[in-house]
This record gives sequence, C-alpha cells and structure tokens, in this order.
Amino acid sequence: MKDLIALRQQLNGLNTIEKLKYLAEAYKDRIVFSTSFGWEDQVVTHLIFANQIPIKVFTLETGRLFPETYYVWNRTLEIYQQPIHAYFPQSDLLQNMVNAKGPSSFYESVENRKECCFIRKIEPLKRALAGNEIWITGIRAEQSANREHMEDLEWDEANQLIKFHPIFDWTLAEVKDFVKENNIVYNTLHDKGFPSIGCAPCTRAVREGEDFRAGRWWWEDQSKKECGLHAAS
Ligand code: ADX
Ligand code: SF4
Repeated sequence: MKDLIALRQQLNGLNTIEKLKYLAEAYKDRIVFSTSFGWEDQVVTHLIFANQIPIKVFTLETGRLFPETYYVWNRTLEIYQQPIHAYFPQSDLLQNMVNAKGPSSFYESVENRKECCFIRKIEPLKRALAGNEIWITGIRAEQSANREHMEDLEWDEANQLIKFHPIFDWTLAEVKDFVKENNIVYNTLHDKGFPSIGCAPCTRAVREGEDFRAGRWWWEDQSKKECGLHAAS
C-alpha cells in the first residue's frame, strides 16, 4: 500500500505511454499485461509493442474462445513480431470437470459456471501473475457500474499486487478512434453488437441501449455476473 501512494505521485502528470515506461522500468521483469484481444486490450498491446516497452503480455487460453479472437491473436503476433504468452488450464482439472459434468456445465448453475471460470481462467491467472508486482489490464470505468468506482491504480488484495488500468478514463469513442487512427487489428465481433467479448458459449451480442456487459453470462442474475478475474468488477 505504501508503494501505491508513492506510485500515484510518480505517475501524476505523465501521459499513458510515459506511465507504462515508468512502471516497466521501476518494476523490471515483475510487470505483466493480460489481453483477451478485445479492442481495449488491442490498444494497450499496441502501446506496449509499438513502443517496445518491456512488459510481458499474456493471455488466458480458456479453450472456448471465439474463432474471431484466435484470428486477432494470430494477426497481432504477425504484425508486432513479439511474444504473447498463453496460459492454459491444468489438463487434469479440466478433464475431471468435463468428464463429470459434460462440456457445457456452466449453463446449469452459477456454481458450475464459477467452477469452469476457476479452472479455465482463475487458476491459470494465478500462475501468470506469480512473482509479479504490477498487473496491467484494459479495464475502463465506463464498462460497468462497479468499474466506475475503481481507480486506474489500485491494490489487488486477492492477488497481492498493484493493478494498473492505463486506459481507465477512455470513452468507447476514444478507443475506437485510436484503433482506427493506428490501424490496429481488432475483433470483428465488436462490429456485430459485442462490446465485451469473453468465451464463446458465455457471450452474446447486446441490443441497442443495453449495458456493455449485458451479453456476458446473460442467463444469470445481474448480481452474480463476474468470473472472479477482477473481484467485484
Ligand atoms: S471479465 O472479468 O469479464 O472476464 P473483461 O472481459 O471485462 O473481464 O476484461 C477485462 C480485462 O481482464 C481485460 O482488459 C484483460 O486485461 C483481462 N482479461 C479478461 N479475459 C482475459 C483472458 N482470457 N486472458 C487474459 N486477460 C483477460
Ligand atoms: Fe467457462 Fe464460460 Fe467461464 Fe469461459 S466464461 S471459463 S466457458 S464458464
């Protein structure tokens, strides 16, 4: 926590690229960025790769991503020629769950859904974050009522590290403009009504006027809709 107050002061007045560079230098080899290849994450990936900032980029390969997401992943590797590290679920945990409950148990109960998210995302995330002190994400305040109350730099009690959301204050229009101006490859599902893209079986398009995240785990109560990657987000 002491670090957080000092860091806030250090970052004050810097632009987004300068902030990323400062953190990469101050937390050398202990700083990572997680991408799910949505357009927010593509903006952050571009900032890191195009400016050669030494921050490790990783993704949680749940095994249930959309074909469009794999396309963006491939193109991003081709364009920037820099590594994106994939973390997979532990095969024994996954195999036991699927053998016991079938491939789509997440639709049957919140408990089953959380079990699947734990095996495919949370447990691999723990491994991805191990030994690091800064975790960068593409979260924006506008994405949900909960996220509005977060801060761009925050202490993550569950993972015992500092989280930094470099485009926290950007509006969706700013994200889209940046993607266009810099010719950044993005997930075409965004053009088909998917503002937020997770696993294929658990994400649908949203209708005009619906929340950004209304298409995630749409069959569940609003109150239960989080996978645990970002506590209470
Ligand atoms: S979630 O909690 O609902 O899954 P969301 O899709 O909004 O999260 O993404 C928020 C941030 O979490 C992304 O900007 C990214 O940093 C991280 N994230 C989400 N899904 C993944 C994933 N599969 N792999 C890596 N990072 C992810
Ligand atoms: Fe499983 Fe759906 Fe969670 Fe993906 S979002 S890990 S498929 S429950």
